Amino acid sequence: MQSNVTEIASDIYRISTFHPDYGIQFNQFLIKDAQPFLMHTGFKKMFSTTREAVASIIDPTKLRWIGFSHFEPDECGALNEWLGIAPQAQALGSFVGAMVMLNDFADRAPRVLKDGEVLSIGQHRLRFLSTPQVPHGWDAGLYFDETTRTLLCSDLFFQPGDPEPLTESDITGRAKEAIVGGLTGPMAKDMPYTPYTDSTLRRLAALAPTTLATMHGSSFHGDGQKAILDLATILKELLSKSDG
Ligand SMILES: [Fe+2]
Ligand SMILES: [Fe+2]
Repeated sequence: MQSNVTEIASDIYRISTFHPDYGIQFNQFLIKDAQPFLMHTGFKKMFSTTREAVASIIDPTKLRWIGFSHFEPDECGALNEWLGIAPQAQALGSFVGAMVMLNDFADRAPRVLKDGEVLSIGQHRLRFLSTPQVPHGWDAGLYFDETTRTLLCSDLFFQPGDPEPLTESDITGRAKEAIVGGLTGPMAKDMPYTPYTDSTLRRLAALAPTTLATMHGSSFHGDGQKAILDLATILKELLSKSDG
């Protein structure tokens, strides 16, 4: 397996690895700055591939922060491998993420971020947003880079296959197709529609991102606010009704 590296916003590098067994991309995002930040570690079994890609951008032993949305192996499976090679590296997480998972799982104590807290890593300012159950997981959170207006949006806007790194065309239509297709497949019900889903998406839209850094599929450059509001409408239509 090999990763493709693309700069999708100033000093934000998308590291994309297509996994043929899953038929989807697993994308990490490295922000190159005084305190380098990696969004998602990728699978433990893909660590050497991801490390090689990171090494094409920075010295991987200098990694400082490891962020991810929720506790799943594609998000943080290689966390301890990264903590092992980068002595200053530390995982970031929500209070729930630390209390329920990371305090036990991580080989080094994590740093807990409060909802809305801003982490300055040099030129880039990352705002942490606690987003329980969006896209899924009690511990879920997302990061918004205020410097480039990039939302690191994890599994939101999921698209299967091995599409282009960055698109300016209709990402919401592609995401809808994937959600509709997923409803009848073996991986259905990945995203719960809760009393907080719509308000969480509206809060993300209000950030007015210009880049959406998607974990599976193409990233998007354009009107992120509209894309998120459209996604909120689609999720309400497709997921909010009980199937009895
Ligand atoms: Fe996930
Ligand atoms: Fe994911």
